[in-house]
Amino acid sequence: MQELGKQQKMVIGMVGLPARGKTYISRKICRYLNWMGFKSKVFNIGNYRRQICGTDCNSNFFDPGNKDASKARDECALLALNDMINYLRNEGDVSLYDGTNTTKQRRKLIMETLQQKFSEVQVFWVESICNDEDVILRNIQLTKLNNPDYVGKSSDEATQDFQQRIEQYAKVYEPIDMDENISFIKIIDIGNDIMIYNIQGFLQSKLVSYLMNLHIYPRPIYLSRHGESQYNVGHKVGGDSDLTQTGLMYAKQLGKYFVQELEGNRNIKMFTSTMQRALRTSNEVCELLGVEYYSLKALDEINPGICDGLTYQQIADKFPQDYEERKMNKLTYRYPRGESYLDVISRVEQIIFEIERSRLPVIVIAHQAILRCLYAYFHEHEVPEIPKLNIPLHQVIKLVPAAYYCKETRIKIDPMTGHWEIQDEATIKKVKSFLDL
Ligand code: SIN
Repeated sequence: MQELGKQQKMVIGMVGLPARGKTYISRKICRYLNWMGFKSKVFNIGNYRRQICGTDCNSNFFDPGNKDASKARDECALLALNDMINYLRNEGDVSLYDGTNTTKQRRKLIMETLQQKFSEVQVFWVESICNDEDVILRNIQLTKLNNPDYVGKSSDEATQDFQQRIEQYAKVYEPIDMDENISFIKIIDIGNDIMIYNIQGFLQSKLVSYLMNLHIYPRPIYLSRHGESQYNVGHKVGGDSDLTQTGLMYAKQLGKYFVQELEGNRNIKMFTSTMQRALRTSNEVCELLGVEYYSLKALDEINPGICDGLTYQQIADKFPQDYEERKMNKLTYRYPRGESYLDVISRVEQIIFEIERSRLPVIVIAHQAILRCLYAYFHEHEVPEIPKLNIPLHQVIKLVPAAYYCKETRIKIDPMTGHWEIQDEATIKKVKSFLDL
């Protein structure tokens, strides 16, 4: 896992009116940080409130003039804060404090409590401001109506109550001000405008660039390995071999699949590696689609160092200790003069930024280890699971990130006949549980 060394622990505090995407943003940051090896967890104040005060709280409960309710809400916020501090004292590197935190007084209280109880923590605030009524309404409909606060309520009733809840918060809302002397980023109108202030250290600057790339426009992301290569057939690792005849057939069928799937849309982004097998596959696809690709070294397959060109049996014979070490921990094992999966994660981070930034459909044609790392990011897989993820040849993985999850479809393409077999989410789960047995 990522070595934090003497790096301080961090709290990321969210700020903003309800339905401004704070939970979405905090979950995304959390997923990104965990993927990077920083142990992170979201503490949602609303969940504490639901546990302690129940779910039957209509908009009056959020009225700042309602003294009893305000006191109860403050207590919930402090409970979440305490749990967050305990998490950081024990295993955590970063805690995300997901709540409205809309007043200067509340933020001051949090800063003071943190300083008293856990002085060495760094605090970074993320404020989401959105003035677009359509976006707010869509957000309410997509995420809030399924919230336990509105079980048994009609959609109109729930929407109306939630809008009134927003008005209650708006009465006392104070956007972050520079005079609070805190480190912050303000994301305005889903990233149309960004303001940053007093950014400190490596992790905060990384988060700033990550947040600058986020948006909420749905678009599909397609992942595919190159077609079968000569080394695949010979069971050899590494190398830069060309496609087999079957691999070439897959590349052609893959192009046909995309022509149909994208319905002639040439407005896409396509990325591939610099390796022959991936370039050959991408060339076939691009020829049919009439688009161009970006060939990036960051997408090259894991570098097997001194084991390049060997079969696993040959590795076991020539380098028995390496063979055993790799078997014990494929995630951290680094091939001598080569790479580990952890090295690959840092290398492909740039691709995550490219994919996150794109508002167009994205196609990535690359290699097994690389796609395992990318796939894990979108599905929130624990980092140690990455080397075991199932990314077979001759299959397209279509991912469509939604508000709080990522929809997946797998399309198995027969290289010879071009026949597609589509696996929806339920089938994928069934196959997975079978493989896990
Ligand atoms: C909630 O109780 O749903 C939100 C908590 C907050 O205002 O931070």
